Amino acid sequence: MNSRLPYFTSQNARPTREQREQMNGQRGQVFWLTGLSGAGKSTLAYAAETRLHHLGRRCVVLDGDNIRYGLCADLNFTPEGRRENLRRAAEVAKLFVESGMLCIAAFISPTHQDREMVRGIIGPGDFSEIYLECSLQACESRDAKGLYKRARKGEIENFTGISSPYEPPLQPNLTLPTERLPLESCLELLIRHIG
Ligand code: ADX
Repeated sequence: MNSRLPYFTSQNARPTREQREQMNGQRGQVFWLTGLSGAGKSTLAYAAETRLHHLGRRCVVLDGDNIRYGLCADLNFTPEGRRENLRRAAEVAKLFVESGMLCIAAFISPTHQDREMVRGIIGPGDFSEIYLECSLQACESRDAKGLYKRARKGEIENFTGISSPYEPPLQPNLTLPTERLPLESCLELLIRHIG
């Protein structure tokens, strides 16, 4: 007999998701920001996290730029590398949802197929797709990290918008036109959507 069995059966008494949500005073949900590099995903995600924190909400950010330094440091930007990056991120987001947290995820997540996979992992009822609409020209002219310039020179392969596709969502739950509206306005719209 497995001597560890009593330990496992005791897990039946673990708090349920509902109990965790009740304790947190909120429902666990993922708000998945998609858009080109430079569209403002990370900036908006961290601004929303700070705002929600001050409102007494429990919130975490998962950000492609950070996740790719640790959990996904072994992955590249080929379609397969991105898919695995997003699969891992979605699995982590799901853990947060099940612990009754709000999770704001900021990933380019360039294809319909990638985002459908993410939606499937998290579960459609807990997933909200948020499109940060910003033209390639605007992202490229901002070029905060100098990556577009390097991509144009051919120094970075598979760069989204330059040498790798971005498919805008067809029916996002929310569209934030970050090119037309200032950060503060986009933040208000996002916070209102989160509810
Ligand atoms: S995703 O496509 O797999 O969702 P993710 O959001 O994790 O991408 O990472 C995007 C960030 O990685 C960009 O903001 C940029 O800083 C950096 N990056 C490095 N190489 C590339 C590339 N080839 N394409 C896009 N972004 C890249």
